[in-house]
Amino acid sequence: MEGQRESIHGQWSSRLAFILAATGSAVGLGNIWKFPYIAGENGGGAFVLVYLVCIAVIGIPIMMAEVMIGRRGRQSPINTMRTLAAEEQAGRAWVMLGWAGVLAGFLILSYYSVIAGWALAYVFRTGSGLFTGLTADGVQSIFTSMVSDPERLLAWHTIFITMTMVVVARGVSGGIEKAVKFLMPALFVLLFVLVGYAWNSGSFQQGLEFLFQPDFNKLSANGVLIAMGHAFFTLSLGMGAIMVYGSYLPATTSIAKVSIAVSLMDTLVALLAGMAIFPIVFANGLEPGAGPGLIFQTLPIAFGHMDYGAFFGMLFFVLLVFAAWSSAISLIEPAVAWLVENKGLTRVTAAVVAGLVTWLFGLMTVFSFNLWSEFKPLSGFEVFRDSTVFDLLDYLTANIMLPLGGLLIAVFASWKMSRASSLDELGMGDRFFYPLWRFLVRYITPIAVILVFLYALRDIEAIQYILNAIGIT
Ligand code: PFF
Repeated sequence: MEGQRESIHGQWSSRLAFILAATGSAVGLGNIWKFPYIAGENGGGAFVLVYLVCIAVIGIPIMMAEVMIGRRGRQSPINTMRTLAAEEQAGRAWVMLGWAGVLAGFLILSYYSVIAGWALAYVFRTGSGLFTGLTADGVQSIFTSMVSDPERLLAWHTIFITMTMVVVARGVSGGIEKAVKFLMPALFVLLFVLVGYAWNSGSFQQGLEFLFQPDFNKLSANGVLIAMGHAFFTLSLGMGAIMVYGSYLPATTSIAKVSIAVSLMDTLVALLAGMAIFPIVFANGLEPGAGPGLIFQTLPIAFGHMDYGAFFGMLFFVLLVFAAWSSAISLIEPAVAWLVENKGLTRVTAAVVAGLVTWLFGLMTVFSFNLWSEFKPLSGFEVFRDSTVFDLLDYLTANIMLPLGGLLIAVFASWKMSRASSLDELGMGDRFFYPLWRFLVRYITPIAVILVFLYALRDIEAIQYILNAIGIT
């Protein structure tokens, strides 16, 4: 590769290290906490199908684009965009893409950390045997009493942000590389154990049908947007996290291969989580659309009735915390790298500054579950009728900011960067796969994202009204 730059932040020690770090970023609360509950709220099968199509057609090509841009720029996303935009004569406004990513990272981590805090709390709750022998009702009321206490949520949120700051302060390769190597396989093993339990729950069939039998009548236009947004969220795309990890990637690694590997592992974890959770939901007469509390109200039932359930339960939530931890790091790494590059801060100071900003934003989510639980800022719109501030933050970041960021990344990589640059950086020859990738990111990805956006607008009454007025619907 010509004209290689070097990152001042260091490099992954190997291709495997990148795969693990990027998988660590991708596999997180999105797979185990969020995927099951949004699939549950949006009717199951059809939602899952749209999500899988989005991973294949939009996610993998954009991941390649993002890693490629990162490795070519070898700086924080903000400076990478500035440098590459100048090099490719693309206009200075592209730097805004880096800034938007930093903002999205802060906003996502602000609520991500609160939920990771729930997982932390559950390490102790399951470990102490609190759920042993409890019915679904008992488990549910433990969850409700936790989230209605703002002080408790704040304490766990503070602990999780501190954990994130500590790792980011130490740089990524040393600690996290080693941790992820052990944790990811362990997470897989435990998920299989849970799928095994669900298998015997008596409702496995019903769980599978719910996940894999598409019924498009149950999927709203807004649900399609949520499925697409989730494809971005779960692969950590559209905000510079994968870009900044790409900037530490060794020069000779095949970007296509690592992107596909990361996407497949991520998808597998989400599907396994669904296969573990829905049978338990149905076997216990619970609601698949229970919302953000779903896994905290279902899995403890399983653990409460299993041999050594307290131990496995504790282990499971420990792993969930680690999965969230390795994602959280990647959410503020773009901001931290920029603070080091442009403000001359040490990594430690940069991590503390970024952590504090996130902590403050996190208060909005903490209060959404208690003090502000009746505050529904956009209740005038039917789709947001029941949305708390937390729901809106999640919607704005996952369903709007990330797809928009991803769309712009695709446009930059395929319309603004020269063919020679991307061909050189991807290094996969010019036979079949490169033209296929370029076609996907040039046309299919942007058009798909725009169509889904437009389609989802149908669910917003104000737009419906206009469409009706001009006779389009
Ligand atoms: N991919 C993570 C998950 O599924 O939990 C969340 C995430 C991490 C989103 C990093 C975006 C990001 F940049």
